[in-house]
Amino acid sequence: MKPTGPLPPHFTAASDGQLVIGGMPVNELIAEAGGTPLFVYDNNIIGSQITRFRAAMPSGINLYYSVSANSCQELLQFIGRYVEGFRVVSVGEIERLQRAELAGIPMTFAGPGKGDSELEAAIRAGATISLESEGEAERAIAVALGLGVKPKLAVRVDPPFSIGDDGSECTVAPNPFGFDADEAPAVINGLIEADVDFRGMHIFTGSQWLDTDALIKVHHQTINLAGQIADAAGIRLPELNLGGGFGTPCLQGEWPLDIDRVAKALCDSLRDASDMLATTTLSIELGRWIVAESGVYITRVVDKKVSAGRTFLVTDGGGHHLIGATGPFGEPPRRNHPIAIANKFGAPVEEAVTVTGCLCTPFDVLGDDVGLPAAEPGDLVAIFCAGAYGLTASPQAWESRPLARELVV
Ligand SMILES: Cc1ncc(COP(=O)(O)O)c(C=O)c1O
Repeated sequence: MKPTGPLPPHFTAASDGQLVIGGMPVNELIAEAGGTPLFVYDNNIIGSQITRFRAAMPSGINLYYSVSANSCQELLQFIGRYVEGFRVVSVGEIERLQRAELAGIPMTFAGPGKGDSELEAAIRAGATISLESEGEAERAIAVALGLGVKPKLAVRVDPPFSIGDDGSECTVAPNPFGFDADEAPAVINGLIEADVDFRGMHIFTGSQWLDTDALIKVHHQTINLAGQIADAAGIRLPELNLGGGFGTPCLQGEWPLDIDRVAKALCDSLRDASDMLATTTLSIELGRWIVAESGVYITRVVDKKVSAGRTFLVTDGGGHHLIGATGPFGEPPRRNHPIAIANKFGAPVEEAVTVTGCLCTPFDVLGDDVGLPAAEPGDLVAIFCAGAYGLTASPQAWESRPLARELVV
């Protein structure tokens, strides 16, 4: 049998073995949603993540939620009560916020390839645009001029450092994100001369950070870099957006970030920072860390079969909803996310099975050679850590199958 990722600590079993999510047994959740495949998101888990963040981090820090991680409307409405704003990457995400009655909430709009109509929608929505290039800066200023408003613009800087898997420093490959650090002072001065509402700097260093020491190092380097750029530009930064990327363990051998240590080190780095950052508001934009553990993907077993001695459970779900768990087209290394039989939760392991989705590809594997209680068609499979980059990141058009249902509890 192969290992699976660690089960998040928030889930229990009812007396009849039904997995309980947000106080409700899974069979009732499915009845309420109208069937499977189903994502269930537990708001209590999201709330407690945000509370943990607030308790650990220095006061005055802005927390933005990154909509790309999960854009379910009800979930956005809930999160909107507890964060300073949202990070969006498209007009579609701006519209989702508007539909969730969050128009007017602060937004940062970051990401390459912003078209003029997107810039216009973002400026109309009052978003701060994190500029990725000289050309984008010119277009944003022109669009704002046409609208007769002063655009809120920040400069995204591509950090010239990162930390490799072995903890050593490594350089970043060329990419379409932001300005090179040595260009940034001149770009900032150009924006100030153009009389825009200069909102500061945005430096995003990566996603799924699970190594606390590496993240601390990267934050320290980022604050130093921001200080050097601000010094060179001779400008006090209104805001420094440190990006996001706090990771969530979902594979064997992964451990949670020590957020208290990250926060303490951040305070230390700020204490030693350039005077140009003395009045700077610090922001962090998180997606995965806020929502990943809140989500459980529930699929129903449709078939059970044996092939060449191996037992397969074939379900009605798959990678078209949760590509992160199956791996895109078998890209190695695919490893097992936490998995359970949701109507026999906590029951002893009885068999080794491979759990697949319903897509016509051998790569649609939700659990490869995993130990589970004996299951039959009609039973339910739960995949955990499914709250982030599920429906927002999966190829739902694949095989024209139905969209997954979503329920927030
Ligand atoms: C600029 C930026 N900010 C924030 C995020 C959110 O990252 P995460 O969900 O890992 O926190 C991303 C993700 O790609 C990003 O590109």
